Amino acid sequence: MQERLFTGCTAATMAGGAPYGLVEDAAIVARGDAVAWVGARTDLPEDFSTLEAVDLQGALVTPALIECHSHLVFGGDRAAEFAMRLGGASYEEIARAGGGIRSTVAATREASDEDLLASALRRVDDLLADGVAVIEVKSGYGLSVEQEMRMLRVARQIEQHRPVRIMTTWLAAHALPPEYAERSDDYIEEVVIAGLRQAKAEGLVDAVDGFCENIGFTPAQVRRVFEVARELGLPVKLHAEQLSDLKGAVLASEFDALSADHLEYLAPEDAVHMAKSGTVAVLLPGAYFTLRETQLPPIDALRGAGVRMAVATDANPGSSPMSSLRLAMGMACTLFRLTPEEALAGATRNAAAALGLSGEYGSIEPGKRAELAVWDAGHPDFLSYWLGGNLLRGRIIDGEFNER
Ligand code: NIG
Ligand code: FE
Repeated sequence: MQERLFTGCTAATMAGGAPYGLVEDAAIVARGDAVAWVGARTDLPEDFSTLEAVDLQGALVTPALIECHSHLVFGGDRAAEFAMRLGGASYEEIARAGGGIRSTVAATREASDEDLLASALRRVDDLLADGVAVIEVKSGYGLSVEQEMRMLRVARQIEQHRPVRIMTTWLAAHALPPEYAERSDDYIEEVVIAGLRQAKAEGLVDAVDGFCENIGFTPAQVRRVFEVARELGLPVKLHAEQLSDLKGAVLASEFDALSADHLEYLAPEDAVHMAKSGTVAVLLPGAYFTLRETQLPPIDALRGAGVRMAVATDANPGSSPMSSLRLAMGMACTLFRLTPEEALAGATRNAAAALGLSGEYGSIEPGKRAELAVWDAGHPDFLSYWLGGNLLRGRIIDGEFNER
């Protein structure tokens, strides 16, 4: 198997030990698509010392970033609602008036597969420019069995066009479509659950999500969906406590959810439930920022309970119109007071955990995939500190350096 040696770099391994797992003057060996060795160049084992080194010329190397919460397949945009919200209308008011998610549903249903894919690829390219190697993509703008499956088929197609791994999430329980007005229990049975079974049979689903909220679905309805997910052997995650405290994170923990996401209204004492089940807290500062939210997620309680915290863009046309994971990291620091190290862990190690991919991604360690990001940055703090710009020099994909 092909072996490659990389030197002339600082490695933020995110594998423990020093802050960031930092190794100055590092050497990294990839064997095929996996990391075979990482450490100080002066400690490089004999077996590898005859390999011709690729000199990364002083770059910073981190694990490739992982986007663990996105809604990046959708039709249209909601720029007009942006103006309405700036004029004083709330996200909730717009949703209740039939706008919000439902206006994106109409635009998504109208869009062709080609248009959905083309617009998604633009957002994927933005994420790739931030060194992202894995992107989670949710359905949730189709809201019929066929349309939800179509969204996930389009999401899967992304892998044929870009060097990225896509993880698909069934989020039919995102909003109630007009044709099911006043019949939300029927919608859960006939679309969310019946569709999930069909999508699973077609191999379209990696995980199951829901929007547990007053403008979404009740905990009882989410429970029903989670029971079917469990029966099908699919992991679950949940949009929980974004706008109010319905104890969604407690419910998610009961089902050993991979993650509970948003969490602005999580009661601090509920963090222990997440810690016990190993449920990752996915923080979405882009939505907090866009909705001008003032209620902060209980970061100290999460940290204190030992809950792993991830950071994601929540890329979507309504509550988080953004496609930069590094910007989300910067926001997580400035708005939520994560440390830059927590923010990078949130976009690597803990994001991998939120997708059930800890064995493969999220840190530079022997046995994990040689999927790395190579940066023009002197120190990993810089990745969260500097907003925007093109800091990525290239990616190591399947053990091979690809300059941008
Ligand atoms: O994660 N909260 C529900 N879902 C998305 C918003 C989707 C939309 O507004 O289109 C979120 O914030
Ligand atoms: Fe979301």
